[in-house]
Amino acid sequence: MKISVIGCGYLGAVHAASMAKLGHEVIGIDLDADKVAALNAGTPPFFEPGLRAALASARKRGSLTFSTRMEDAAGSQVHFVAVGTPQRKDSDAADLRFVDAAFESLLPFLRAGNLVVGKSTVPVGTAARLDSLVRSADVNAILAWNPEFLREGFAVKDTVSPDRLVYGVPAGPDGERAVALLDEIYAGALARKTPRLVVDFATAELVKVAANAFLATKISFINAMAEIAEATGADVTSLADALGHDRRIGRKFLNSGLGFGGGCLPKDIRAFRARAEELGVGDSVAFLGEMDAINLRRRDRMVELAVDSLEGDVRGKRVAILGLAFKPKSDDVRDAPALAVAARLIDAGASVVGTDPQALETARRALPGLELAETPAAAVAGADIVLLLTEWKEYRDLAPAELAAARGRILLDGRNCVKREIWRESGWTVRSLGRPDVAIPRSTRLSEQLAPAN
Ligand code: UDX
Repeated sequence: MKISVIGCGYLGAVHAASMAKLGHEVIGIDLDADKVAALNAGTPPFFEPGLRAALASARKRGSLTFSTRMEDAAGSQVHFVAVGTPQRKDSDAADLRFVDAAFESLLPFLRAGNLVVGKSTVPVGTAARLDSLVRSADVNAILAWNPEFLREGFAVKDTVSPDRLVYGVPAGPDGERAVALLDEIYAGALARKTPRLVVDFATAELVKVAANAFLATKISFINAMAEIAEATGADVTSLADALGHDRRIGRKFLNSGLGFGGGCLPKDIRAFRARAEELGVGDSVAFLGEMDAINLRRRDRMVELAVDSLEGDVRGKRVAILGLAFKPKSDDVRDAPALAVAARLIDAGASVVGTDPQALETARRALPGLELAETPAAAVAGADIVLLLTEWKEYRDLAPAELAAARGRILLDGRNCVKREIWRESGWTVRSLGRPDVAIPRSTRLSEQLAPAN
């Protein structure tokens, strides 16, 4: 099928490459000429495992091209809109500027029987509004909403083999036609018995934000338990293991530590709250504000733990940070907890050096005051303390000897991911959030002295 994908960021570029991988003929449209040139040359503009290979094989077959011109989308039967919906600068709500612009500029190029498929994460009610817009084009084009649940680091795999397909479609024959076209696109996944749910627009929009709200709540729940553990001497990692054996709860997304960041969870729970307020049902998801607050407090706590470990004063101290991306297997530093901690330590007068297997370039742009090193060994040279803030496998597996160049022997494990005994046997002090070794005297709490981390 001839498909266009409008917006070639983390979501769109992966979607375009994955659709080509499924055998479709795909044109990706993005306003950013540099990004388009890179993608046309087969170079992913960001790190995502599997994306380079997907681009390369599609290019070989000649089934994937990228363009800055919306008119090149004309002639495609299905148009996916995958532009970003970041948080607005002036509020918690989602900024729909890019979605609106994408639909407006696509409109003149729609042809009879085309299907426009929204992929972007939008506030509930957006699809109904855009449906009127698509109908106003007067060419019998149809709108569907087909949310995406891909995780960075597994994005190609999640797109090609999703755990479920959700189609939000209009009622009646238009909806049936939309379902038939989407079924054709996802024929491979459907043949593998991937669950497919056909719902109305509002439900489709809500599935996405509700899923992210649930995941954020699960992470913040265990991090709230970490706060209780810190006050009682309990161990949150054993608590999570014990809870996780209850199959109704499950162990996934119960990893306590520095909490969630990235381009989705934080802004999606805020936008969900903002939309619920607009709808007059703000109370129903007011708890998400608490989840956000618990999450951000973990960053403060990590700063406090560093200050406490350096005897109450980080000024002039050398701090090494392992891991800058918001999670492993990504170079994404949007709302990255590690960068928030780095920024606060820099503000507090420490000299901070960070390293990451993939995110050095993105971190350089996001936090210019942060010194960067290529390797853990280089980062820790002369460091008074080492903070492990993103659980890349290569950091989880580090041997103490590899960090021998550190001056101090203090490791703060921000993700509860190292084998503490090995480090302790080598003479290191290991401290982790939510575990018995973090009792911090009230006097070292920085929360009241510094602006909150975010
Ligand atoms: C998320 C959703 O998982 C995905 O379905 C949606 O489409 C987009 O948002 P992503 O942002 O790629 O995906 O990351 P995810 O794997 O969900 O992790 C989010 C954050 O939570 C990361 O910062 C991660 O470090 C943190 N996290 C995750 C925890 O702190 N503890 C956990 O147990 C799991």
